Formats: sequence, C-alpha cells, structure tokens
Amino acid sequence: MNLENRTCVITGASRGIGRGIAEELAGEGANVAVNYRSSESEANDVVETIRDAGGTAITAQADVTDFSAIKSMRDRVHDEFGSVDILINNAGITKDTTFEKMTPDQWKSVIDVNLNGTFNATKVFFSDIKSSDQGRLINISSIVGKQGNFGQANYATSKSGIFGFTRTLALELASSGSTANSVAPGFTKTDMLADVPDNVKDSIRDDIPMSRFGEVEDVSHVVKFLASEEASYISGEVIDVNGAMDLWTFPVHDAVLILLFSHCSVVVLRTYTLKRVILFCLYRLTEAGYLAVRTCSILVCECVHRFLLLLKNEMRTIRIHPGVSCYLDIATLSMSHW
Ligand SMILES: NC(=O)c1ccc[n+]([C@@H]2O[C@H](COP(=O)([O-])OP(=O)(O)OC[C@H]3O[C@@H](n4cnc5c(N)ncnc54)[C@H](OP(=O)(O)O)[C@@H]3O)[C@@H](O)[C@H]2O)c1
Repeated sequence: MNLENRTCVITGASRGIGRGIAEELAGEGANVAVNYRSSESEANDVVETIRDAGGTAITAQADVTDFSAIKSMRDRVHDEFGSVDILINNAGITKDTTFEKMTPDQWKSVIDVNLNGTFNATKVFFSDIKSSDQGRLINISSIVGKQGNFGQANYATSKSGIFGFTRTLALELASSGSTANSVAPGFTKTDMLADVPDNVKDSIRDDIPMSRFGEVEDVSHVVKFLASEEASYISGEVIDVNGAMDLWTFPVHDAVLILLFSHCSVVVLRTYTLKRVILFCLYRLTEAGYLAVRTCSILVCECVHRFLLLLKNEMRTIRIHPGVSCYLDIATLSMSHW
C-alpha cells in the first residue's frame, strides 16, 4: 500500500489511536501532519519517531472545536506539503455520567470535540479531498455509536452522528472519485480506556467474544487500507473493529434465559449472566394460536437487543438465580418489529 506523495492530516494524533494511524501512514510513505490540542511534547515525540524511521511528519496544533484555528493549521500544512489528500477525524473525548447527572456542559463539550470538531476539520479540508486524485475522508466513530452505552449519552450521540455524516459525504464525494468511510473501534487499549475503572473493564472484556481489548494497530491497519488505492471502491461504509463485540453469541452450554413474549410481558424463567446466555424467544403467532420457537433471529434481534441492554444494566444490581421466576414489564421497549 504505497502512500508516497500523499499528504494526510490526523486529528488527535499525539497519542492512542491517532498516533498509531500517524505512524502507520507515515510508514507507507505519506507526509503526515500530527494534529493535537495541548499535548505538545507527545506530538513532538510522534514526529520524531516518524522521522527516525525515515518518514516525513510535522506537528500541527489546533483545537478542533475552533474553526479558525483549523483554517490556520490548513495553511501551515499547505505551506509544508501542499494540498491534503487524506483527512482522518480521530480527535475525541469522553465525559461519562448517567443522563440524569449529565450537565449541559458535559453534553456540549463532547459533542463539540467529537462531532462539531469532525465537521470543522472536514469543512476546512473538503475541497482538498474532493480535488485530490483519490481523496480520503476517514472518520473514527465507535461501537458505542451503534449500540449506545450506559453513562455515555453524549459520547454515543456524537459517534452515531458520524455515521450519517460520513454516508452523506460519501454521496457528495462520489463523483470526484474520493471516498468517505468511518471506522468504529470497540474498546481499544489507550488512555481513553485507561480511565475506565478496573471492574468495569473486566465486565467489558467478558462481553468481547475474542476476549481481549483491541490494540491500536487493529484500528490503524484498517485505516491504512481505507486510505490506500486498493480501497478506492469502498465508500459510505462503517468498518467495525471490535473482536465481534457487536454480534450476539450464545454458547449452548449455559442455556439459561427463556423469554416468553406475549402481550408485552416477559417471563424470565432462569438466568445466570448475560455473557453466557442462550436465548429462546417463544412468541405467539397471534391468529394461528401456537407458539413458535426461534433462536435469536434477525426478526427478533432489535427487540431482544434492547431488552438485553436493559437487563444487563439491571443485573449489575439485581441477581436473578436459576429457577426463580421474575416478571418484567417491557412495555417501554420498542415493539416496532413485532
Ligand atoms: N480507546 C477506545 O477504546 C476507543 C473506542 C472507540 C472509539 N475510539 C475513538 O478513537 C479516537 C481516539 O481515541 P483514543 O482512545 O486514541 O483517545 P486518547 O488516547 O484519549 O487520545 C485523544 C487524542 O485526541 C486529542 N484531542 C482531544 N481533544 C482535542 C481537540 N479539541 N482538538 C484536537 N485534538 C484533541 C488528544 O490531544 P491532546 O492530548 O493534545 O488533547 C489526543 O491526541 C476517539 O475519537 C475515540 O472516541 C476510542
């Protein structure tokens, strides 16, 4: 994957996933602008590492929430390398708390960096990408943007927004031959994950079918491919990098949860923990008047998914033992698929 003579800007590249992407693309010969907000020494370190390995890089300070700062950064990158071919919108922050406790400031600051920052950088570099031969826009989203996550209403919203944004720009770029895609990492070993308490991390790892957190390289390899000429016919896509975390897998050896869907009520007959659940949905086919048994199928997936997310949060505090029957009202769940 040769990226020689290609210029790329990576926002939030002073550490974590952004740093990994910067080193990966520079390793393929790209000229790299390492954007950061305040971590100057880390950004310098990234540039030095790239140069020591024979690559070409500069630091490019700008707060992505500041539109005019991004414009100044573009001028500096233009002076150094000329027009930009590849923009990676990677800068992101979290400010986690339950929605009830979330302040307007916590909401706004996350939306401002993750979503408005993506708008700002894209707006400033859009004409470069469009006029490039094979321009690339790659936006880093998250599994949380697809699934939601307890205590992350602000973050999940910012990452969901990236999906619609990317698809729309894929359409608007298509005639130019440039592409727009997003990459949705699962939980990846960076400072962002380091902030999560250990017990929560253990619980998250248990929910990853591949039983490990992602490495920065798991994400940067995918970004490198999307940035390359080989990916020229892929646009408007979300590439998940999450160890199969967004798939529901139900090992047979712990058959435990039986849901009886009937008139919006659910009977949980026996259950252990969700990570070892086999799920049988028995639901009434109304007119025929008989029960059909289905394993978790596409048909029921959305409803079951929402239910499990709800139950998962409940089960942190309520332990339901085998053999105990428990009635849960799911009237609040969307039954649109039924
Ligand atoms: N780690 C995960 O588990 C995970 C999972 C899914 C998605 N993601 C996403 O992947 C991206 C990178 O995450 P990470 O884990 O590598 O994060 P990280 O280690 O915390 O690094 C965040 C980077 O963003 C920069 N940044 C923050 N606010 C900025 C701003 N206003 N302007 C410019 N740069 C800013 C930081 O620079 P300064 O230090 O200078 O502020 C830093 O370089 C984020 O979009 C994140 O949402 C991460």
